[in-house]
Amino acid sequence: MVFGSLFRRLPAPGGKILVAFASQTGAAETIAWRTANALAGSGLVKVAALGSLTAEEIAEAGTLLLVASTYGAGEAPDSARAFERKQMAQPHLFKGLNYAVLARGDRKYDATFCGFGKSLDRWLAASKARRLFDVICVDGDDDTQAMTRWCEQITRLGATTSVEQLMPGPAQDWYLAERRLLNPGSAGGETWHIALTPRDPAHLNWTAGDIAEIWPRNSEAAVDEFLALHNLNGELSFRWRGYWTFLRDIIAHSRLPRPHEVEGIALDWLVERLEGFPPREYSIASLPQSGRMELLVRKAVRDDGSLGLGSGWLTEIAQPRGVIKLRLRPNPNFQPPGDGPQILIGAGTGMAGLRAHLQHRQAKKLGDAWLLFGERGEKTDLYYCDDIKAWQADGTLAKTDLVFSRDASPKRYVQNLVTEQGEEIRRWIDRGASILVCGGLQMAAGVQDALLGIVGQEKLDQMTQDGLYRRDIY
Ligand SMILES: Cc1cc2nc3c(=O)[nH]c(=O)nc-3n(C[C@H](O)[C@H](O)[C@H](O)COP(=O)(O)OP(=O)(O)OC[C@H]3O[C@@H](n4cnc5c(N)ncnc54)[C@H](O)[C@@H]3O)c2cc1C
Ligand SMILES: Cc1cc2nc3c(=O)[nH]c(=O)nc-3n(C[C@H](O)[C@H](O)[C@H](O)COP(=O)(O)O)c2cc1C
Repeated sequence: MVFGSLFRRLPAPGGKILVAFASQTGAAETIAWRTANALAGSGLVKVAALGSLTAEEIAEAGTLLLVASTYGAGEAPDSARAFERKQMAQPHLFKGLNYAVLARGDRKYDATFCGFGKSLDRWLAASKARRLFDVICVDGDDDTQAMTRWCEQITRLGATTSVEQLMPGPAQDWYLAERRLLNPGSAGGETWHIALTPRDPAHLNWTAGDIAEIWPRNSEAAVDEFLALHNLNGELSFRWRGYWTFLRDIIAHSRLPRPHEVEGIALDWLVERLEGFPPREYSIASLPQSGRMELLVRKAVRDDGSLGLGSGWLTEIAQPRGVIKLRLRPNPNFQPPGDGPQILIGAGTGMAGLRAHLQHRQAKKLGDAWLLFGERGEKTDLYYCDDIKAWQADGTLAKTDLVFSRDASPKRYVQNLVTEQGEEIRRWIDRGASILVCGGLQMAAGVQDALLGIVGQEKLDQMTQDGLYRRDIY
């Protein structure tokens, strides 16, 4: 219990502090750096990826603050998978080590919510380290309550900061500049090319591999109808998610309450009880130099015919030139690993992240890249075909292998391609190639199995640790 932990003894001021992170898409890593910066005046502070640490380094850390996200079903992010398998298999002896864990996750994963952070906490306790305060679980990017507790606790350790400084800033205004269906007639879901331009050109600032967080919203018509039905003034302002916001905007970004949830309820109370939509993440498919942020979005359609929140907003509900609320998230784990040879593997909307990387390599005239990509049908689903031809023509792509599951019998997928090309992939890896994988979880798991069959677990672990095996998967 947090209250009880207030009375636990604090480490001596001026001691060593190690802030370690385990992060897949960059959020935990950003918090780790902000935490370390806030503590910089209070001792000797270091930051490290958890996966790069040895048991000896942990034992000698003095105070260890861990910021850890959860993936898979309660598992570690890629960069800490080997650590989880090897170091956490049994308790160590960390007597004299003080520690605390900030666990990041998403409540929709329910039983495995913040699972990896909690496992770390149990493992350190079993290793006789001293818990400074109970594990703090953070639900997504905008969990102010949990982050306030983290802020209070690190302040007791000597940090100078505020919760605003630890959390990501507000979303920015972008405009929907273009929306185009890329796969008419496909056997799969609709896939749309979306282009956005920023209100403030200073926001044209990201790196290949980074992520856009988009806030879905209800249509203007639905908001107008709701306000009229309940005789509400949309121009009234309320404090919401830390900012003064018009009721119209609050309603637009929340699940519309049913009539019985509204009737007879004071407006303040209604606003407090509204369920704001969570943001949705999309891999950025362009570079800022183009002046546009491009996304490749699959429209999700539910069994009852209703649209997915985020994809429905982007591909159908948002109006041309209308405002899209967006926040950029740097994703160091999927940024370019260097200028060496590169194998890019993906399927479906995974082309988004790969396209940004190929544009990056094209701009730097790197050449020596190999694209392995899978989709359903060649006639309908070969997105960005002109780009691929241009990359082949100018030498950005040295080798291209495409596979279309519906065009072959039996069906073949990109993971089959990886297995078939095993010898050649090994040769590329032997001369230092990095591997980028982008797209759905099932594809990524199949590709990983295929890669394990080619190079084995030890080599893949080593490539992960060296930043030569990077994934943007969902
Ligand atoms: C790092 C990362 C990068 C990503 N990059 C991309 C990308 O480049 N392109 C892309 O298209 N996607 C990408 N995604 C996925 C994207 O973030 C969304 O998850 C996806 O668009 C679906 O979200 P949605 O809000 O449209 O659908 P949701 O509303 O979340 O629904 C998704 C599905 O959940 C089910 N569902 C949810 N709620 C209900 C309900 N009430 N009743 C019945 N069924 C329900 C349905 O099967 C539905 O189709 C990425 C995800 C991550 C984490
Ligand atoms: C494929 C996938 C699997 C996930 N699995 C879990 C999970 O089992 N439990 C959980 O709490 N969160 C889960 N999450 C949510 C992430 O932990 C959460 O988004 C976190 O904030 C990401 O932080 P990062 O950017 O540091 O990686 C999952 C997210 C993705 C994309």
